[in-house]
Amino acid sequence: MAAQINPSILSADFARLADEAKAVEGADWLHVDVMDNHFVPNLTLGVPVVESLARATDTPLDCHLMIEAPDRWAPQYVEAGAGSVTFHVEAATAPVRLAREIRAKGARASMALRPATPIEPYEDLLPELDMLLIMTVEPGFGGQAFLDIMLPKIRRTRELISKHGLELWLQVDGGVSASTIERCADAGADVFVAGSAVYGASDPAEAVRALRELAES
Ligand code: DX5
Ligand code: ZN
Repeated sequence: MAAQINPSILSADFARLADEAKAVEGADWLHVDVMDNHFVPNLTLGVPVVESLARATDTPLDCHLMIEAPDRWAPQYVEAGAGSVTFHVEAATAPVRLAREIRAKGARASMALRPATPIEPYEDLLPELDMLLIMTVEPGFGGQAFLDIMLPKIRRTRELISKHGLELWLQVDGGVSASTIERCADAGADVFVAGSAVYGASDPAEAVRALRELAES
């Protein structure tokens, strides 16, 4: 699969979200970080903002839920217009049931792992998912340094996906930039979230193109 670049609006101007979404037209997905100040020590946005954003842009929304009780909330993000919904396995009560519900409602189901959460216990769940997200920083804030120690986990996960012959996308999120994206791609990631590397650039659309080129090189 060609590399996909998903700009994270966490690094955008929240008062101008529609314009900020337009500034990265050509990106594959728009990454929307939902934080509840419980699962992570930060607070961002919720269902009404996602609903409005879905109306304001043609770029599909990739909602990353860093929240408690995703079993209760994730389906509402599908209804709000998200094309992909990621829940954290550390917060989910019934990840298989939840993934099935997200898919049944018509979105791609994705599961995220914090840096300290291993992939091995979840090998049998992989067929239930459309994407797996490996966090390459502790979730909660944009602009943190990429954790190189996550590279072996990315590699092992790619091996598991191949072993089972799955179509699953492998996303990385946190500290992805021009200086780290090639390492992630080399380890087997194919979907790249970038917040500060895109919205911190003088030309965000050009930053998306440059990242994609590096990931595919
Ligand atoms: C962090 C979020 C990320 C964040 C990435 O918890 O999940 O999506 O926006 O930002 P950068 O790319 O700046 O590390
Ligand atoms: Zn994210």
